[in-house]
Amino acid sequence: MIQLFHVSKWYQKEVPALQDINLHIPKGDFVFVTGASGAGKSTLLKLLFAEERPTNGQILVHGRNIARLPFSRIHTLRRETGIVFQDFKLLPNRNVFQNVALSLEVLSLPQRDISRRVWLMLQRLGIQHKMRANPLTLSGGEQQRVAIARALVNDPVIFLADEPTGGLDHEASMKIMEVITDVNARGTTVLVATHNLEMVRSMGRRVIHLEGGRIAQGVAP
Ligand SMILES: Nc1ncnc2c1ncn2[C@@H]1O[C@H](COP(=O)(O)OP(=O)(O)O)[C@@H](O)[C@H]1O
Ligand SMILES: [Mg+2]
Repeated sequence: MIQLFHVSKWYQKEVPALQDINLHIPKGDFVFVTGASGAGKSTLLKLLFAEERPTNGQILVHGRNIARLPFSRIHTLRRETGIVFQDFKLLPNRNVFQNVALSLEVLSLPQRDISRRVWLMLQRLGIQHKMRANPLTLSGGEQQRVAIARALVNDPVIFLADEPTGGLDHEASMKIMEVITDVNARGTTVLVATHNLEMVRSMGRRVIHLEGGRIAQGVAP
């Protein structure tokens, strides 16, 4: 489902953000990406969303080499992929409901279906009461839940989350992990970047540990 062959990403000339990454993530897997700040976690997720392009190597998603995908085809990849960025990227000129509905508008569904699906997803994340609020007026944890709702509302084949529990207390983190576990149980392939090792340990899932842009072998989190 997701395969990386000798993938490297250089932003600047001196040090690569990722170096010679080889990975195979089967369909339906649930994987944590761990590592210290600067290890390359966000870069790995951005490559899978074609937000960034690799400098070298191949990235196959459903057999397509997305490293070479023409811009016109990136839409298809993104329609099948839900992503929560570390900084959420919520639109400040739209309310919570409209931010989440955005993922469905491109699918040209009837307005009634859009409203129902957005409402159900907001309810699942316990944020439906903020439906009409401007995202800028929400707390960090609330914004995080809106970003997760937006990423999940169109039933993505792949779900990528960058520090989805960053800044949340244990209880709030576990609630979010419950939603993500549930999504994975329905068949979505999940990658979660986090430096919350306590949470990673408690979940007992596969871990890809990055160190200085490389996959560290045999390291228990
Ligand atoms: N847009 C960018 N331009 C230049 N350097 C970047 C950019 N994004 C990330 N980097 C660098 O790449 C490395 C990996 O960053 P990142 O993938 O954000 O790591 P992590 O998410 O694990 O903290 C870091 O050294 C970071 O400074
Ligand atoms: Mg990061």
